Amino acid sequence: MTSTPYARKASSSLPAPATQTQRAVAFSEYGDPSVLRLMDFPEPHARAGQVRVRMRAAGVQPFDCAFRRGDLRGFMPATFPQVLGNDFAGIVDEVGDGVSGVQIGDEVLGYCTLAAHAELIVVDAGAVVPRPRTMPWEVAGGLSASGQTALNALRDLGVSAGETLLVHAAAGGVGTVAVQLAREWGATVIGTASPGNHSWLGSLGITPVTYGPGLVDRVRALAPQ
Ligand SMILES: NC(=O)c1ccc[n+]([C@@H]2O[C@H](COP(=O)([O-])OP(=O)(O)OC[C@H]3O[C@@H](n4cnc5c(N)ncnc54)[C@H](OP(=O)(O)O)[C@@H]3O)[C@@H](O)[C@H]2O)c1
Repeated sequence: MTSTPYARKASSSLPAPATQTQRAVAFSEYGDPSVLRLMDFPEPHARAGQVRVRMRAAGVQPFDCAFRRGDLRGFMPATFPQVLGNDFAGIVDEVGDGVSGVQIGDEVLGYCTLAAHAELIVVDAGAVVPRPRTMPWEVAGGLSASGQTALNALRDLGVSAGETLLVHAAAGGVGTVAVQLAREWGATVIGTASPGNHSWLGSLGITPVTYGPGLVDRVRALAPQ
């Protein structure tokens, strides 16, 4: 176990410190990115079954932007001041009672709901997995939501070896994972993307195609079967 300078056990018998604050990016009215502010919030602590993670990197998804704009207010209203961010990577610095398999100092990545754009986050211990040693922090911080979305979509479709799969937005967060998984599973993959992303997709073994007018014809030409 590696202990960080700021590590503290949730079950410590030391007197509880005075309420401390952490910083998070939040907004108090719907709007464009200019509504985002750096704000102070009470420091969260891990309860039983939970871990606290000190953030190293957190993803920004289209969902965050839609939520900030208020597009989802009809069925998922914000609670102001509202923090965003659903996937993250960081270092565990507090472990609640009853947690096994995760220790203070572990480097992890994981998933949460509207909380990750903060210095500290508390999640169930099962919501984190070890960060692969060779994966940069900024990649790990944006992997969880896009990765799960891509994996679930491919599983729901039942993609298997020998099939030809068309992935839209292949160079985006979800698409990037989906095309690589589908290739790993033996599918032939065609991916829509802007011309600037074609050579990169090609390097992954994907056949790139430009989206926009004429797309159906271009895809038929690539996959006449
Ligand atoms: N990220 C998640 O965890 C998640 C979860 C659930 C649902 N979703 C949904 O999945 C979609 C993609 O999310 P993302 O996170 O991958 O977004 P992203 O990283 O922002 O990527 C969006 C991609 O869309 C592509 N694009 C733009 N216009 C297009 C068009 N007309 N036809 C085909 N592709 C086009 C762009 O490709 P070029 O750069 O090549 O132009 C860009 O790479 C969004 O609708 C999002 O709401 C995402």
